[in-house]
Amino acid sequence: MSRILTGIQSSGKPHLGNLLGAIRPALELASQQNEPAFFFIADLHALTTVHNPVQLQENTYAVAAAWLAMGLDTERHVFFRQSDVPEVCELSWYLGCVTPYPMLANAHAFKEKAGNLAEVSAGLFTYPVLMAADILLYDTDIVPVGKDQKQHLEIARDIAGAFNRRYGEIFKLPTGFFQEEVMLLPGIDGRKMSKSYGNTLDVLGDEVELERRVRRIVTDSTPVEAPKDPGRCIVFQLYAAVASPEEVEEMRRRYVEGGYGYGQAKAELFRVLRERFAPQRAAYQQWMRDKAALEAILQKGAERARAEAAKVLGRVREAIGFQARVPSFRW
Ligand code: ADP
Ligand code: TRP
Repeated sequence: MSRILTGIQSSGKPHLGNLLGAIRPALELASQQNEPAFFFIADLHALTTVHNPVQLQENTYAVAAAWLAMGLDTERHVFFRQSDVPEVCELSWYLGCVTPYPMLANAHAFKEKAGNLAEVSAGLFTYPVLMAADILLYDTDIVPVGKDQKQHLEIARDIAGAFNRRYGEIFKLPTGFFQEEVMLLPGIDGRKMSKSYGNTLDVLGDEVELERRVRRIVTDSTPVEAPKDPGRCIVFQLYAAVASPEEVEEMRRRYVEGGYGYGQAKAELFRVLRERFAPQRAAYQQWMRDKAALEAILQKGAERARAEAAKVLGRVREAIGFQARVPSFRW
């Protein structure tokens, strides 16, 4: 029996990479366990990049609707918004106090921006500490995430280890779970598909927009008649992630044979994206029209999450020399 936990930032609309690289594998893994899994929307983390309050809220609902549209059972699993569990901020502080500076200075996300330190907030710098708190607050065993989160997982384990060395065996060491078959999906410009690059395919969103973006996928200038290398084509890589093995084989054959243009490959990719995600798209759009229902689900999830968080936080508070329970104030 293992407890699974994962989160997705509400930093934009959920895209194909999030669905195939995070949500679907997490739901599959959770369905194999008897214990409820913990899934949340990382809106505190999103604050490092989203500064518009309306946008932040809209993104949060969009990520929630995506999880539900992909089949998350909220009776069974605990589904909540990170900021509804303030205990995570408290734990984050305690963890920050055992985290050595170089551990954070070596994080990829920070290093990328280290050339322009004036742009780096303390929140961005300590992002991995908050992520460690997310994981450790619920005695998590397994964290399914895309490969881009591997380093964050290692940092979470290191922080747990550092805390345990100082205060005793308080935390479980979580393990990452990286879906081998799901590579990091490329975006329409060939870089990793990411909300922050604006290169995503939003398969749950508007179909017309989706088609427009599929047409914009970057390809080389090999003429229609010439044979093409499927391994180096983004259209093919995306197709391989969503089409059936037979369909993928067929497209590979056409690429190698020649006489098959990128325009045709894009039309075929769009067809498969539109068809395979049709039920999820309908469900997503229905949830997005009923924010009150989404809110009610998130509130119920937060109550369950807080009950669990209080147990671990009590253990931590006691270990560091505080009272196990936060005293309630009387004015
Ligand atoms: P983004 O990079 O779009 O901001 P997040 O960082 O919020 O996405 O990622 C949420 C989850 O989706 C993580 O588990 C991450 O590994 C996964 N993920 C993000 N982008 C991709 C991608 N291009 N391919 C596969 N998985 C991805
Ligand atoms: N950093 C993760 C991402 O960008 C999101 C996240 C925040 C997360 N807290 C987490 C993922 C805890 C797994 C566990 O994808």
